[in-house]
Amino acid sequence: MTILGPIKPIESQAADAAHRLRPTLSWYHLIALGVGAIVGTGIYTLTGVGAERAGPAVILAFAIAGAVCACAALAYAEMATLIPTSGSAYTYTYSVIGEAVAWVVGWSLILEYSLACSTVAVGWSGYLVGWLQSAGVSLPEALLSGPHAGGLVNLPAVLVSLTVAGLLMAGTRESATLNIVLVIIKLTALVAFVVMALPAFDIANLKPFMPYGFVSHVEGGETRGVMAAAAIVFFAFYGFDAVATSAEETRNPGRDLKIGIIGSMAVCTLIYMAVALAAIGALPYTTLGKSPEPLALVLRTLGHPGASYIVAGAALVALPSVILVMMYGQSRVFFVMARDGLLPYSLAKVSPRTGSPMLITGLTGVFVAGVAGFFRLDEIAELANAGTLIAFIAVGACLMILRKRAPDLERVFRCPAPYLVGTGAIVGCLYLLASLPTHTLTRFLMWNLIGLAVYFIYSRSRSLMKKRQDAA
Ligand code: ALA
Repeated sequence: MTILGPIKPIESQAADAAHRLRPTLSWYHLIALGVGAIVGTGIYTLTGVGAERAGPAVILAFAIAGAVCACAALAYAEMATLIPTSGSAYTYTYSVIGEAVAWVVGWSLILEYSLACSTVAVGWSGYLVGWLQSAGVSLPEALLSGPHAGGLVNLPAVLVSLTVAGLLMAGTRESATLNIVLVIIKLTALVAFVVMALPAFDIANLKPFMPYGFVSHVEGGETRGVMAAAAIVFFAFYGFDAVATSAEETRNPGRDLKIGIIGSMAVCTLIYMAVALAAIGALPYTTLGKSPEPLALVLRTLGHPGASYIVAGAALVALPSVILVMMYGQSRVFFVMARDGLLPYSLAKVSPRTGSPMLITGLTGVFVAGVAGFFRLDEIAELANAGTLIAFIAVGACLMILRKRAPDLERVFRCPAPYLVGTGAIVGCLYLLASLPTHTLTRFLMWNLIGLAVYFIYSRSRSLMKKRQDAA
C-alpha cells in the first residue's frame, strides 16, 4: 500500500480463471487490429482541420505527433509484453504506481476509446453525406447533423455506432477477421488517393508554409498554430494501444504484441506522410480545411469524380473498423476495472457463448452513439486526445519507474534508450496537452473530477486488491 493506493503485484495480473477472456488472436490479427484502429478519421477528415489550424505546416504537425507517438509505442511495447493482460495503461499503472493514479488513467481511457469511436462515427457520416449527394440522393438535413450545426441529430453517426457495438457483442474472433478485410479496403483507397493526387502537386500550395506560426494560440476566435494542429492530428496516430489492451486474448504475447504494436505504427506513419503531402500539394489549405470529407474533395476538384466516389465509398466501408477496435479496447478496459472491483462486478460477466463482455459492450455502444449524435467532430476528437495523452504519459512514467525499481526483471521486449524514450513520451504528450484549447482542458478536468468522486465514494472501498491486502 502506498499513498497512491494499493499496488497490484505484476504476478497477480494473471486474470482469475472465472473472468478470463479467450486467447484467440495471433500477430496478424494484431497488426490488422492496430492498422484498423490507427488509420481512420484522423487522416480521412482531421487532415482538413489540421490544415486550417497550421496551413501547409500540417505536414510538420503530423511529424511531431508521430514522433511523440513513436516514443509512446516503444514504451507500450515493453510494458505490454511485461504485463500481457487486458487493460493497457490502466493495468500497468496499477502495478507500478498505485490504484488511485491507475483509476485516473482508466477513467481517461474510457474517454479516449469512447470519444474516439464517436469522432470516427461523425467523420464517417461526413463521407456518407458527400457520397450520397454526389450520387444524387439527399436526406432530410435535420437528421444529418447535431444541434451545433443546425440539425436535430446526426443519425448516420448514431446508426454506425450501434451497428458496430452489435458486431462486437457477437464475438471477438468474427470481428477480428472482418477487420482484416476492412483494413485492406481502407489502405487500398489511401494508396489510390496518393496515386491520383500526386500528379497535381503544386509547390505554390506549400507557401506560406507556416502562416500561423508554431505555438498554439487563439487568433480571430480560432485556435491556430502548428502545435494546435499537432494536438488534433495526434488523433490520427493512436490506436496501437488498443492492440496492447488485447494482450490477454493473444496466443503468444511475447512475440505477437511486439510485432503488432511496432509493425502497425510503422505502416501507418509512412502512409500518413504520403497522404498529407499529396493532399496539401494538390489544393490550397484554405479549401481543404473547410471540408467534412477533404480527401474526396481533393479528387473531385482535380477532376476525378469517379475516383472520389470510390475513395469515399472505401472510407464508408472501412472506417467502421476503427470504431470496432476502439470499442473493443474500451469494453476491455471497463471489464478489467470491474474485475478489479473498482466498477460494479456484474458488468464484468463474460458471455459463455461469445466469449465477450456483453453488458459493457452494449452500454459502451449506447454512450458512443449518444455523443456522436449530438456533438461537434473537432471538439469530441480533442477531448479523446486529452484522455489518450494522460494514458501515454502514464505509460512513459511506468516504463522508467520499473526500469529503475526492477532492472533485472525478465523483459520479452526491451525498449531502446528507455529513459530518453520515456522522457520523450512524457514531455511530448504534456506539450500536446497544453496545446489543446482551454475549453477542452476544462471539460477534461471536469470529467476527471467526476471520476475521482466515483473513486472515493464507490470504488476505493470495494477494491479487491485493498480487501486482499487488508485481510493479509
Ligand atoms: N487513429 C484513429 C483515427 O484516426 C483513432 O481514426
